[in-house]
Amino acid sequence: MKVDKLLEQVYEPILPSLHKVEEEIVNRLSIDYDFPLKKYVSMGKRLRPASLLFMARAYTGLERGAIILATAIELIHASSLIHDDIVDEAQFRRDNLALNYRFGNSVAVLAGDFVFSRAIMATNELRNPDIMDVFLSSVLVMVEGEFLEEILKFEDRLKEDFYYKVIYKKTASLFEASFKLGALWRGMNSEVQETARKLGYNFGMAYQIIDDCEDLFSDTDSDISLEKITLPVIGALINSSNHHEISLDMELEELKRFVIENDGYEYALGKAKVFLDNGIKLLEKLPDRDVVENLENFYNYLNYKREEVLKGVLDASSA
Ligand code: FPP
Ligand code: MG
Repeated sequence: MKVDKLLEQVYEPILPSLHKVEEEIVNRLSIDYDFPLKKYVSMGKRLRPASLLFMARAYTGLERGAIILATAIELIHASSLIHDDIVDEAQFRRDNLALNYRFGNSVAVLAGDFVFSRAIMATNELRNPDIMDVFLSSVLVMVEGEFLEEILKFEDRLKEDFYYKVIYKKTASLFEASFKLGALWRGMNSEVQETARKLGYNFGMAYQIIDDCEDLFSDTDSDISLEKITLPVIGALINSSNHHEISLDMELEELKRFVIENDGYEYALGKAKVFLDNGIKLLEKLPDRDVVENLENFYNYLNYKREEVLKGVLDASSA
């Protein structure tokens, strides 16, 4: 687990449970050979398991099942990133060499499959068809999202509604499942489960938009070179009201300038704020004060990240 000071404070009520999730992850990734698989799963921020543990109030009991589920969710996420790095031909993941880059695609495909299978096995241990249903449905949607992203035509990549569809499927759906599974595991009624799902939706959408802004803004960006048009680019196009200003053969630096000059980051990060505000508004529907408080902090953390990205952009455009 790799979290900054602020996130560590937000995680405070669930830290003991998160540490147990870490142990579970390590135990479940042992293989009968000396291969550093755990290393590739160990550096995440654990946002999805944390979502589940907050909703499940893991600190008040019913902890074991919530920990197994949170482990399964993180393993699914980890397996998807291993496969995503193959798809993206990534060289780095979280400041390390990407598994595909270090060991080649064959090893990476199989490593991802192994982690994926471990996740399914973990969920199966709970012997609960409702949980399995939510879990597997989100996996299917996620795979579909990544698939859709790969096959979209360039013109469709420029459309805002397609962008939302893809990020909903590939990212927000797993956050939806994480929040909902927490509520389901705790035995909350269907109304609370639905609120939990929407909380995950809004958190996940905002998270991916912020991530896409960071990706394009950072020097190590790889998205655009892979023709993945993201919301800051779409926002810049909308603001410039000229859909012919970008093309596939455009240089990355030129595209970044176009985005800055047409306030594309402001557009995208403004949309992220709408998702965050929608989520915050939903909190009042939850029955437990401690859950509301914890999730408010969790949402505020993401908004803080959003503001940091925005500040970086504003500094760069005034320089
Ligand atoms: C990261 O996107 C990728 C995802 C959120 C989803 C990946 C899904 C798959 C590869 C489908 C296969 C799924 C399983 C369960 C094996 P990104 O490239 O925008 O983010 P990044 O900057 O972190 O790479
Ligand atoms: Mg990627």
